Amino acid sequence: MQSSPECESNQIEGRYKTVRLLAQGQQGQIYLAKDIETNQMVAMKQILVYDDIVQGMTSSNMREVSIMRRLSQDTSQYVVQIYDQLVQENMQLIIVMEVIEQNLTELLQKKTLSSAEVRRHVRQLLQALLLLSQHSVLHRDIKPDNILVRKVRNEEQLVLADFGLARFVSYLPQDMTQEVQTLFYRAPEVFVRIEKYSFAIDMWSLGCIFAEIV
Ligand SMILES: Nc1ncnc2c1ncn2[C@@H]1O[C@H](COP(=O)(O)OP(=O)(O)OP(=O)(O)O)[C@@H](O)[C@H]1O
Ligand SMILES: [Mg+2]
Repeated sequence: MQSSPECESNQIEGRYKTVRLLAQGQQGQIYLAKDIETNQMVAMKQILVYDDIVQGMTSSNMREVSIMRRLSQDTSQYVVQIYDQLVQENMQLIIVMEVIEQNLTELLQKKTLSSAEVRRHVRQLLQALLLLSQHSVLHRDIKPDNILVRKVRNEEQLVLADFGLARFVSYLPQDMTQEVQTLFYRAPEVFVRIEKYSFAIDMWSLGCIFAEIV
């Protein structure tokens, strides 16, 4: 893991002290940090916001935060928990969340899953999709990089993360963005650019992951 010179001694809002860079995403960086008030370790996703700014946040960034907040209300074990969000003067949005240091891609590089683990993990991902549909949320980028592996009493539990492409849907037909889902996990209706896709596209991605891990 790298450390970031610009963040090494950085204290954010007098409360979060960055420790090291965990990952470089397409939208921004994910840092490991310490919450000085609670002494708890947290993950901080720092996103540079560009256009369409509403009080410092773009509408898509606002969506990511509000969807994470909505799903966290359930204290669900199947989605990553958001603790806080901050908007900085340098146009950075910071999402403070629970730290889960491994993603599914990294887990699969380390080991082959037993059939009992495959069953358990697919059930956990189905539970996550059930929660999303109960809250009328489409994730739209389900893939192993966006699934984190939480350790609970020596057992691995899969947790859905990265709501950067997620959106709320209503049951009324709506025109939907076509630039969603990573190629290998993309549903046929997104490939053929059907405008009114829905929850089935996330289920397709989950099916691809099942085929990958079984
Ligand atoms: N809460 C977290 N705790 C620890 N690591 C995390 C956390 N959230 C994300 N990461 C790590 O950072 C990586 C990138 O995070 P995320 O997918 O949210 O960012 P992104 O900028 O949207 O990335 P991309 O566009 O590349 O998918 C994840 O694949 C994961 O390895
Ligand atoms: Mg991601």
